[in-house]
Amino acid sequence: MSPQRSPSFLAEHVERLSRIHLRDLLRDTGRGEQLRHRVGPILLDLSRQKLDARALEALGAHVEASDWQAARDAMFAGEPINTSEHRAVLHTALRAGGSHLPSMAPREARQEIEQTLQRIERLIQAIERGEAASMGLPTTITDVVNIGIGGSDLGPRLAVRALAPFHVPHMRSHFLTNVDGQAAHELMRQLDPKRTLVIVVSKTFTTQETLLNGNVLRDWIVRAYEGDTGAATRHFIAVSANTAEAERWGVPVSNVYPMWDFVGGRFSLWSAVGLSLALAIGMEHFRALLAGAARIDDHFRTAPWQENLPVLLSLVEYWNRNGLGATSRAVVPYADLLGDLTSYLQQLEMESLGKQVTSQGQPVTQSTSAVVWGSVGTNAQHAYFQALHQGTDVVPLEFIGVVRPAHTLRSNHDALLSNLLAQAAALALGKTFDEALAEVKSGDEAARRVLAAQRSFPGDRPSTMILLDSLTPESLGALIALYEHKVFMLGHLWDINAFDQWGVELGKVIARQILPALDGQIDDLTDFDSATRASIEAIQERREG
Ligand code: F6P
Repeated sequence: MSPQRSPSFLAEHVERLSRIHLRDLLRDTGRGEQLRHRVGPILLDLSRQKLDARALEALGAHVEASDWQAARDAMFAGEPINTSEHRAVLHTALRAGGSHLPSMAPREARQEIEQTLQRIERLIQAIERGEAASMGLPTTITDVVNIGIGGSDLGPRLAVRALAPFHVPHMRSHFLTNVDGQAAHELMRQLDPKRTLVIVVSKTFTTQETLLNGNVLRDWIVRAYEGDTGAATRHFIAVSANTAEAERWGVPVSNVYPMWDFVGGRFSLWSAVGLSLALAIGMEHFRALLAGAARIDDHFRTAPWQENLPVLLSLVEYWNRNGLGATSRAVVPYADLLGDLTSYLQQLEMESLGKQVTSQGQPVTQSTSAVVWGSVGTNAQHAYFQALHQGTDVVPLEFIGVVRPAHTLRSNHDALLSNLLAQAAALALGKTFDEALAEVKSGDEAARRVLAAQRSFPGDRPSTMILLDSLTPESLGALIALYEHKVFMLGHLWDINAFDQWGVELGKVIARQILPALDGQIDDLTDFDSATRASIEAIQERREG
């Protein structure tokens, strides 16, 4: 549990600001100018963060001294910055077509990417024109099921839901991710197998959950064709970097779309991993999503740190985590359509930044990834906001709002936005004991004081506000790219590899050992630790009950 330390250059600012309440910082009318920034459809408001111009300058000097521009350019140029896997990190190349700057990515990568986008476009057109059979698919497709997990699920799931107002008619999207059979069971109950297209998305094509669910849906479709596996095969597309394995599993190579080693799963929405999204919103909107992300790429590549949204966002996170010692961050979108943003960010941030050694294998000296959690407002207010306002721990928040909704229910939307603004204000300003006391009119002095203590709010609780002009493919692309580059910057500041995920391997290995014990293939449980052995036995004893 060691790293927590505040970097020494921040200590003086942490100490100074510990004596200043956010309420006092917010009296500075110039604060908005310095801490509010706009790029395209995104307004980033950091004015409710507990830092001032001096602390921000110190953070800026720190990032400038770190040669972040060279690190950033190395990523865009395709240098193998994922050192533990010897891989380039080129998710930005996937959307380079929408950029106004010359791409730094290798030409072959860009060509393969463009060819894949054109393949996706041909597929969408064929389905739209009722010519899917010419591509080896069923003639009529009404439902698309994306089977994948982690990065092969969370990005498309987030975007398909967020962009519901842009969906093409007559095509429904579904996501099958968990190995819990309940989800597959429900889907099979609802859908017509002969009109369902299944996209099996797995970079490795070895992921247990995905292959298991793939097998379940394949059996279901084969049954619908009375055992004709050839007919069933037409219902499957694969997206994978492991074409050989996808083919061996049963998808003809003509229906395998590529993923590449140079794109990490959690950064892969922009590739064929976004196929279910492209089918849901059409190619024009899919390209608009890419262009929105490219706009942030261009901004990240050119803006000085003082105006650079991803850099500023990373510095604020660095400050909260390593300066103020926050252990978690709540992400609260005031938009039902962004209901999957938090789980998307959990993978993007925690899988990328949850590391305890540097890229050189040395223990880190500061705390890394905070825990990311949260859910949509206003529901969150009626669940856990009590603890955020009056609990003993300070949890920085990130509020995300949309100025112009996709519906016409203006009074609903005004209520939503007023709640968003109110929560940010209440958390920052709080209510003093004296203010609370003045509100308590009845009872004797002692009773009034008891009540006032319970009705006062400490305030001084920091939050970031991100406002999108509207929720469109462009603004969603920009928002996600903003977070991606924030993650890159934090990885750089902490000197960790943000692009590998060795920490998920151990559990997979142990699950593979437990499975044969659970299904009775092995009886000798002595190799397991006592707790695991007892759990296996308890499950075996009760499973027939
Ligand atoms: O187990 C974690 C992970 O490797 C993620 O990084 C990845 O997004 C997910 O599993 C799915 O992997 P795949 O796309 O290879 O099935």
